[in-house]
Amino acid sequence: MSYKDKVISIKEALNLVKTDDMIVTGLGAAEAQLFMNNLHTIADRVKNVTVTNCLPTSNGEFLKPEYRNSFNVDGWFYSPSLRKAHLNGNIAFIPNHLHLAGAKRIFHVKPNIYIGSATMPDKHGYISLSVSNTYEKQMIDAADIVILEINPKYPRTFGDVEMHYSEVDYLVEADYEVPTIPDVPSSEKDLLIGKYIADMINDGDCIQLGIGGIPNAVAAFLKDKKDLGVHTEMMTSTMVDLVKLGVINGSKKTLHRGKIVCTFILGNKSLYEFVDDNPSVLVMDGKYVNDPYTYGKIDNMVSINTTLEIDLTGQCASESIGAVQFSGTGGQADTAIGAQNAQNGRSIMALYSTALVKNKETGEREEISKIVPMLKPGAIVSLSRNDVDFVVTEYGVAALRGTNTRTRVERLINIAHPDFREEIKKQAHEIGLIFDK
Ligand code: COA
Repeated sequence: MSYKDKVISIKEALNLVKTDDMIVTGLGAAEAQLFMNNLHTIADRVKNVTVTNCLPTSNGEFLKPEYRNSFNVDGWFYSPSLRKAHLNGNIAFIPNHLHLAGAKRIFHVKPNIYIGSATMPDKHGYISLSVSNTYEKQMIDAADIVILEINPKYPRTFGDVEMHYSEVDYLVEADYEVPTIPDVPSSEKDLLIGKYIADMINDGDCIQLGIGGIPNAVAAFLKDKKDLGVHTEMMTSTMVDLVKLGVINGSKKTLHRGKIVCTFILGNKSLYEFVDDNPSVLVMDGKYVNDPYTYGKIDNMVSINTTLEIDLTGQCASESIGAVQFSGTGGQADTAIGAQNAQNGRSIMALYSTALVKNKETGEREEISKIVPMLKPGAIVSLSRNDVDFVVTEYGVAALRGTNTRTRVERLINIAHPDFREEIKKQAHEIGLIFDK
């Protein structure tokens, strides 16, 4: 079949959806925007269609309560649209470590449709899955029907993302911009945390930066380092700044030397321009990249992630506020455990000591400690205390690897906000975590 024979309109693509279908979309910016933003238009024709997605960037129109009988979502990682729609009751979270998200899902259910984005074909007929292969190729192999929105604005990347257009069932021509996330300026607290982390990173180390404000800000403090490498789930905008400054060159990497390895790319326009046609970036299968054993092969691997709440024994609740799902485990445990499998590897959990949270009754924001004697009831532990390593706040570094719970309490209280230390200690005593007042 020729390329032209594969091209269908977005309306024809939506007509392929049937009642009870299981649809899987690409992750983040690899979501097919035309398809997802118009899915609601077939609501009166279909029932019980399940969309499995991960950090979606589309407008979430189909999630509105009026379409509840037609669509529901099984989410691997919530973004704002899913957090909002969760309250409608037609969304459920799939607990997962990201490197196994695809494989485990396929074990549970066969996808009927994979819908994602891709580049235009090159002169040989090859398209690139562009900004993610976290689970996308696995789903393409498993799905009954594969539809790709091909778009000249998507960057052509290399790695495990190339495929011939003849392997795709249908192509929809699209021309929208790749979804971006805003650059957030570093705060004073980021500056302090960034300095602590910069002191823990040596020239020649290989880094992973997790999702969230702090890991992204940390990159700004690595400008004086040399020969850093990157092996990461998410490739971020700030990594590009470090490549341009000559800080990241991958020359000391013990796996994929000279290459930046990632499973997905999400950031600003400059990031997408940088990765376009750039053989120094490999977008590879998340099952391989994020496997803790793969990280273990990279000497001097340092993972940097963040969390919403940590208890005094080191349990990190990174994906929920109490029992309410906020995001997902993503690759937090994959990367934190993986980094510690590596020769001279380190895992850093960086967080502000406090959060400004809305009081439900008054509506006012109030400061609370993120370091707590006990997690909020129902909190989901994304990183077990068995796997926590270094914890950093604007008040310093707590080295927890191999320590007992008493030492952990001491060290974590030392990096809590001074205003909360006494109360945390008192509570730690009350629940029997420490015996001295
Ligand atoms: N109690 C209640 N609310 C809290 C809180 C706490 N202890 N800590 C933070 N919050 C609130 C904040 O006030 C903020 O609310 P707002 O949006 O109303 O202002 C919200 O939670 C988000 O906090 P913030 O610190 O801005 O989060 P972030 O955008 O930097 O993301 C994580 C942080 C932890 C959610 C994110 O890193 C994550 O999902 N991690 C797990 C996945 C992961 O690490 N993957 C790694 C590989 S990519």
